[in-house]
Amino acid sequence: MRRLATGRVVILGAGIGGLSAALALAPRPVLVVSPQVLGEGASSAWAQGGIAAAMGPSDSAADHARDTVGAGAGLVDAAVAAAVAGEAPQRIRDLTLLGAPFDRDPAGGYVLSREAAHSRPRVVRIGGDRAGAGIMRALIAAIRATPSVQVLEGVAACGLHLRHGRVAGAELMRIGADGAAASRPVCVTAPAILLAGGGAGGLFAVTTNPPGIAGQAVGLAARAGALIADAEFVQFHPTALDLGRDPAPLATEALRGAGAVLRDASGAPIMAGLHPDADLAPRDVVARAVFAAARAGRRPVLDATQAPGAAILQEFPEVSRACLAAGIDPARQPMPVAAAAHYHIGGVQSDARGRSSLPGLWVCGEAACTGLHGANRLASNGLLEALVFARRAAADMATCLPSAAPSPEVVLPPLRPLPPPDAALVLRLRQAMTAGAGVIRDAAGLSRCLAEIAEIEAAARACPVLVNMTATATLIAAAALLRRESRGAHFRSDFPRPAGGAGCRSRLTLQAALEI
Ligand code: SIN
Repeated sequence: MRRLATGRVVILGAGIGGLSAALALAPRPVLVVSPQVLGEGASSAWAQGGIAAAMGPSDSAADHARDTVGAGAGLVDAAVAAAVAGEAPQRIRDLTLLGAPFDRDPAGGYVLSREAAHSRPRVVRIGGDRAGAGIMRALIAAIRATPSVQVLEGVAACGLHLRHGRVAGAELMRIGADGAAASRPVCVTAPAILLAGGGAGGLFAVTTNPPGIAGQAVGLAARAGALIADAEFVQFHPTALDLGRDPAPLATEALRGAGAVLRDASGAPIMAGLHPDADLAPRDVVARAVFAAARAGRRPVLDATQAPGAAILQEFPEVSRACLAAGIDPARQPMPVAAAAHYHIGGVQSDARGRSSLPGLWVCGEAACTGLHGANRLASNGLLEALVFARRAAADMATCLPSAAPSPEVVLPPLRPLPPPDAALVLRLRQAMTAGAGVIRDAAGLSRCLAEIAEIEAAARACPVLVNMTATATLIAAAALLRRESRGAHFRSDFPRPAGGAGCRSRLTLQAALEI
């Protein structure tokens, strides 16, 4: 494979974490690798609700941390939760200074949404339900104005290169607009590499993630030998809009915070009697209830006709746009919903500085597992974690760089095209994961799923994108098989309760997962 020395920190992924780290590293030279044009295709840009932070007058970082620990079903690292909640208000002020146009009240305070399992309204928002897009616009403008940052668009990483036990380079390839592999890889070497992509929704048949987000980031780190933590915890969102679209558009949880109610086709409230917090119960509880209603043929819907009522059109423009395009007026008609793979809680094990178990590789965002989310991520803590750990990783990586001396721009050579991943194999993988490692799991289904993934992997060997996907799929299913209990987002019908005692987090290498 051809090799190019960059002399730059290489950041793999261009969501909120990757771009924040690139800005924090300036003026040190950085190469950001973005699979699509900046702002397109990153999960961050699709985030609707916003960022959780104790910005309200009666709120506190301690309360935010307590809610984070409470939602996480026993597995949250309390020290991480306290530190992240403590940093949150400053990260919001940083983004505000950068130009992120958070919604403000007439007195200048931040408008705060209520989301599930938060004890009070705490989520800063932009344009009602357009937080991710608004934040990304501000970050992209700052990146374009920062000469030390070079961005390669239409390029993705498919592997890592190790030298003397240290991650010393990344294998990059050009990809097509649909996320499919389009070229043979080239290896770029770097003094430090930050893995800032992530997400595994596309491993499942129904997902809210942008196209092409299907476990590749965790998979490439796992194939290089990185330790993967809590892989079994995949968070399913209860209210993806069931409009026959792939991916399924999200109906933000803030809608339930504003009074919308989940009902079945007969109009009965789905959450009545299932949890004291009803529609604002923890996300895993609501997702299982929606999944069960759909499986029983009760056709779950989200009813916003009473509250927020007509205001939905102004307050939640993204959700309204998706519904109206499908011929549904959400102010007057209930919205059909389904549980959908939304956020991979597990990921590359990361310490407090964003270091992975592999020297030379740092990680932030959805690809990382810091211990903040435990077994069930509190809503709107995802972007927050990415922001906090992007800065920490940047500060730590800066210590590995000799100087901030300018480095020449990296020019990739013309690369020979490769066939895209076999669509039939991708479909088979998504169906196998949904059937065996979806919302409700058991030992027999997980074992069948692992056997199926192994067959798909054997057929996919020539395709670097697919082998990264099957690596993450293997880790999710193997960790789910090993966890013989139900906890947070991981539900086993053959072990429907949490195991006794304090829960423990899981750690697996890909090699160990393949031997299960
Ligand atoms: C939502 O807006 O419902 C999603 C927020 C999140 O996943 O953190």
